[in-house]
Amino acid sequence: MSIFAVVTFGVAVLLAVPLGASPLANRKVSNQSNSLGPLTFRADGTFQISIFEDLHFGENAWDQWGPQQDINSVKVINKILDKESPGLVVLNGDLITGENGFLENSTVYVDQIVGPLVTRNLTWASTYGNHDYDFNISGDAILERERSWGNSRTSPMVSGPDAGVSNYYLPVYDHGCVNEYSCRPRLILWFFDSRGGFKYQQKDASGNRVGQPNWVDTSVVDWFNQASSGLTKRYRKTIPSLGFVHIPPFASYALQDAGVDPNKEPGINDDLQLAPQAQGWCRDGRNDGTCTYGAQDTKFMQAISHTKGLMALFSGHDHGDTWCYKWDRLLPDMDVTPVNNISLCFGQHTGYGGYGNWERGARQVKVSKKGLAKFEADSWIRLESGTVDERLDDVLPDL
Ligand SMILES: *[C@@H]1O[C@H](CO)[C@@H](O)[C@H](O)[C@H]1NC(C)=O
Ligand SMILES: *[C@@H]1O[C@H](CO)[C@@H](O)[C@H](O)[C@H]1NC(C)=O
Ligand SMILES: *[C@@H]1O[C@H](CO)[C@@H](O)[C@H](O)[C@H]1NC(C)=O
Ligand SMILES: *[C@@H]1O[C@H](CO)[C@@H](O)[C@H](O)[C@H]1NC(C)=O
Ligand SMILES: *[C@@H]1O[C@H](CO)[C@@H](O)[C@H](O)[C@H]1NC(C)=O
Repeated sequence: MSIFAVVTFGVAVLLAVPLGASPLANRKVSNQSNSLGPLTFRADGTFQISIFEDLHFGENAWDQWGPQQDINSVKVINKILDKESPGLVVLNGDLITGENGFLENSTVYVDQIVGPLVTRNLTWASTYGNHDYDFNISGDAILERERSWGNSRTSPMVSGPDAGVSNYYLPVYDHGCVNEYSCRPRLILWFFDSRGGFKYQQKDASGNRVGQPNWVDTSVVDWFNQASSGLTKRYRKTIPSLGFVHIPPFASYALQDAGVDPNKEPGINDDLQLAPQAQGWCRDGRNDGTCTYGAQDTKFMQAISHTKGLMALFSGHDHGDTWCYKWDRLLPDMDVTPVNNISLCFGQHTGYGGYGNWERGARQVKVSKKGLAKFEADSWIRLESGTVDERLDDVLPDL
């Protein structure tokens, strides 16, 4: 195990085979330029992901402070990539502070974000966050800007008016695989769009921006269930997987409420209580400030906690939380009983934009073919200072 490996999460293989027989229906695979080639493990049998979350570029573009934050954020990305060598970078939502954006140039910040990645010939995949959706910006607009760079792997697979944009999966193949049609995936990375923020170029009768639901849409959950069982059938095997979504599910809130133990769930736990999906919405669909939580993410939680081989789900959004928590039991005020013991993890606030002054950093996830055979992965947080957060060191035993 690497000296940096500080948290290990794993799920046991379940005996019951879940889910139905539908093949990969309802899939709209967009035409990603395939010049990138497939994602592959390194020759040493490992694959690493660096997660940059809550970069919040483009804040206060009209004064000196805002653009300076973006310069600082580019420095963070560079410092982390000087120490880490990921096979994929995940931009896990809130790339841009959309409410500060002007229609004519709200997505130009993408170029600044991906600059350090392009320089290093790294490829990336995004999920979009609530601040990526506002009157003058949208997931679609950010996607278009991303795609002007050949290194983007963000490729929406779910169409429909309520799906959001960044819903897709990426297979990772053995080292040396050049043609993905003749290789077997060894790891699947799932990306979900938790939406939120405001609808693009829409105002209500009173001239106010129109809020967008802030949970993973049920059409996306249906697609995920079908696509993941389709992969299991096609390869006659549970392929280990990891998930990424900007806003954490309510189960993260319930776990925090049950108590985050600094010995078992090390990391920052300052955002008390954290903001989950469906926060601020009512069960009947109103979001007029009268409800705290509408439970519309229940179907998503049911899906992620019952999918065999799904080891962990990584979120951002709550800048002041960085822990990982194994969701292994029915929690108070919830009716979803997990069966795969999925770890629900935060990354670390990476950008200088957005609230909070916790030291900037980025969660790293590293899998090895050996570890994946037991559905295990390693993770640590690389800080802007260049060090690995010592408080997270050696706290959990290897599983
Ligand atoms: C999940 O964790 C619980 C409690 O730690 C344990 O009893 C159970 O066997 C685990 N289930 C699986 C599928 O690993
Ligand atoms: C993708 O490519 C196929 C075949 O080249 C084409 O028929 C289809 O219209 C393209 N779809 C998009 C969204 O560009
Ligand atoms: C949207 O962009 C336009 C054009 O730059 C600008 O005038 C307006 O203030 C922006 N609106 C909002 C709500 O941010
Ligand atoms: C975007 O446009 C606004 C208003 O037109 C301007 O003030 C701002 O400097 C522009 N930002 C960038 C990054 O070009
Ligand atoms: C960049 O990466 C691609 C594969 O993603 C590789 O084919 C190419 O040789 C690399 N270029 C450089 C300059 O390293």
